Amino acid sequence: MGLLSPGINEIIAVTKDNAAPIGIILRDGQCPKMILFKGSKTEENIRKYGWVTANFVSRASLYARYAFSDVELSELTAEGDMQRLREADAWIGFRAEVTHETEQTYMVDLTPVSEFILTPNIRRVNRGFDAVIDATVHATRYVFNHSEDLKQKILYDFELIRKCGGEDEFAAKKILAEVCKISE
Ligand SMILES: Cc1cc2nc3c(=O)[nH]c(=O)nc-3n(C[C@H](O)[C@H](O)[C@H](O)COP(=O)(O)O)c2cc1C
Repeated sequence: MGLLSPGINEIIAVTKDNAAPIGIILRDGQCPKMILFKGSKTEENIRKYGWVTANFVSRASLYARYAFSDVELSELTAEGDMQRLREADAWIGFRAEVTHETEQTYMVDLTPVSEFILTPNIRRVNRGFDAVIDATVHATRYVFNHSEDLKQKILYDFELIRKCGGEDEFAAKKILAEVCKISE
């Protein structure tokens, strides 16, 4: 599906006058989804206005900033009845509907209505992919020294791969589990 990859896509979610890093979950045969912890501006806006844009950005500092500070309104630009980050390299506009609620979360189904690629350099952020790289680095040392510390780091990465990765990251985990003789 276009800009989204299987697993959890970590994007900057823009809702009315607000930006925050959020994961968009893409699993086989299902529409894209978000799981939003109650109490954030993002969940309030999505329930109120029914739209969100997924913004792909290259600068890591924006993830840290928007997790803890408000976006400046000058950093946003209007797109029809939605908004996006001015510095997005690409963005997707979604209609958003809450389909399930638990004590702590809302599950939101997303219907894409527009997708724009603004620069050729689009960074897709997936913690499962990053965990494969991290685990592979550790594994290259682990096969020589069988250090318990490295094993724990690899197991931590395996958990991230399970949670955030897609089929290809799962295939990588299988290779690493075999060479390291660590059970998945
Ligand atoms: C990479 C990343 C992914 C995140 N994914 C989610 C998510 O899927 N759901 C969620 O409720 N919060 C998620 N968060 C936490 C929110 O970004 C954080 O609670 C933020 O302060 C919410 O801001 P808001 O009140 O402006 O919406 C994530 C944070 C980061 C850094």
